[in-house]
Amino acid sequence: MDLKNNTILITGGTSGFGLEFAKRLLELGNTVIVTGRDPVKLASAKKNLAGLHTFQSDVSDPNEIAELYEKVTKQFPQLNILINNAGEMRKISLHDTSIGLSDITREIETNLMGPIRMVQAFLPHLKQMKSAAILNVTSGLALVPFPIAPIYGATKSGLRSYTKSLRVQLKNTKIKVFELIAPAAKTPLNDQFHNMDGFNVKLMDPIELVDTAIKGLEKDKFEIYPGLARMILMMSRIAPAFILKQLSKAGAKEMAG
Ligand SMILES: NC(=O)c1ccc[n+]([C@@H]2O[C@H](COP(=O)([O-])OP(=O)(O)OC[C@H]3O[C@@H](n4cnc5c(N)ncnc54)[C@H](OP(=O)(O)O)[C@@H]3O)[C@@H](O)[C@H]2O)c1
Repeated sequence: MDLKNNTILITGGTSGFGLEFAKRLLELGNTVIVTGRDPVKLASAKKNLAGLHTFQSDVSDPNEIAELYEKVTKQFPQLNILINNAGEMRKISLHDTSIGLSDITREIETNLMGPIRMVQAFLPHLKQMKSAAILNVTSGLALVPFPIAPIYGATKSGLRSYTKSLRVQLKNTKIKVFELIAPAAKTPLNDQFHNMDGFNVKLMDPIELVDTAIKGLEKDKFEIYPGLARMILMMSRIAPAFILKQLSKAGAKEMAG
């Protein structure tokens, strides 16, 4: 698809991939709007990227999504691309009884229910556009579990499944449905996993990752596998037990109970 002169909404655009997407898409001549929860990070993104539009919005809250929809479509009626990028990944020992019943599902609300609700809210609007796209950011951990982040993997597998169904259901519309299957990269999301026993994965540079994603979008590659993601895909097919064993080494002590 043509990545010029679009109006693009990116959830979680104040850090990591989202911020890099915003920078690159602005450079390509698009109108770019980002969301996030932290007003300080939103102000800093706006200050650093000339022309960037920001909205404070928590994707885990359906009321905030409804409010965002009203504001964005009123102010930017040409909105034609939605990038569901906001996400969080937590190290969780399932033996930890201090985690409450609401807190344990927090990532599901942000990483899975968030994108599903964003699509539900914005779909009627996107259908009216001459050309439109939805990009859902999943992960190599949608393909194989990372046991020390058990809820995260479940959300990304769920989002991958949903994205495939969405693509089938939208096949007779002008909306293209993309999935970015991202490998581990150098962003704040990985901070708590650095220096963890058994975690010695090479982290991809987010600049390189977003570059691959943009080339994939331009070539209409509906599933984009940057860096090691393609290797994870292959391993998940030919040696699933082996790759699960490797990923189970990270945080093995914490998970032993
Ligand atoms: N980094 C990796 O290794 C990796 C690998 C595969 C997939 N991914 C996926 O890539 C996406 C981006 O991750 P990243 O590495 O760039 O993470 P990041 O640097 O931590 O950035 C996350 C962004 O999402 C926002 N965010 C978090 N929770 C939110 C919520 N409830 N509502 C709205 N915004 C929210 C954050 O801002 P606020 O905190 O201010 O809200 C921030 O702008 C995520 O979906 C992640 O799962 C990352």
